[in-house]
Amino acid sequence: MVEEKAPKRVTTRSLQRRRDTGDSISMLTAYDFPTARLLDQAGIDVLLVGDSLAMVVQGHETTLPVTMDQMIYHAEMVGRATSRAMVVVDLPFPDGQLEVERSIRCGARVLKETRCHAVKLEGGAEQASRIEAMVTAGIPVMAHVGLRPQNVFVQGGYQVQRDEAALVKDAVAAEQAGAFAVLIECVPESVAEAIHAAVSVPTIGIGAGRATTGQVLVTHDLIGLTSGYTPKFVRTYASVGETIRDAASSFHQAVRDGSFPGPEETFD
Ligand code: KIV
Repeated sequence: MVEEKAPKRVTTRSLQRRRDTGDSISMLTAYDFPTARLLDQAGIDVLLVGDSLAMVVQGHETTLPVTMDQMIYHAEMVGRATSRAMVVVDLPFPDGQLEVERSIRCGARVLKETRCHAVKLEGGAEQASRIEAMVTAGIPVMAHVGLRPQNVFVQGGYQVQRDEAALVKDAVAAEQAGAFAVLIECVPESVAEAIHAAVSVPTIGIGAGRATTGQVLVTHDLIGLTSGYTPKFVRTYASVGETIRDAASSFHQAVRDGSFPGPEETFD
């Protein structure tokens, strides 16, 4: 009997190697077991249990309402579903903003309770001491700079972030504090280029153009399972929303006209 070898897990080291050798990194969000398993089988390198689940799964207007307990609930399903992808979990608002000890406890919950591998934290320079404390405690941290959805009311909406000097400073501070990667959201391509050149860890872009090591999208955007607005930086590869509506409508019709269940779906 030939034993199937488990695929090699993507790690902070293998991601760094990608940056060093000029290879790219793919990253998508996942919030449940079956989707995470499919994305893992498709070869996606990093899965993110994003706090975007507040919007695309829970139906809220911002990412702010999702709680740490809810993040853990979803992360546990995603962590259990993967055998190759590295899984990163967002620290939700305000667990990444209050006392550092609270952030360490939340990061530790991710590692102890979910089989996931790292956390993502919004912020750069002002989060440096938190990142350092978490990494010292053994919790790998991906920093998130540029547009920061947890800061939506301070930033005054979801706008492209253009302050190159401040954004470079954020990314450099995060790297110096020990972040293993920097996610850059919604900045002009030239700004992402400057950030990428200023750090030596992998950079992952969303709405940040082509200069970053990797690219991330929200899976619900990618597969057409959103209810309305699609940002400019999204490429939609499927129309799963339409497929679900069509399937439900066909079932409804079949129940109404008596053609479901048929003999083939009925026990003798
Ligand atoms: O929560 C999320 O989905 C994110 C995106 C930027 C990928 O952080």
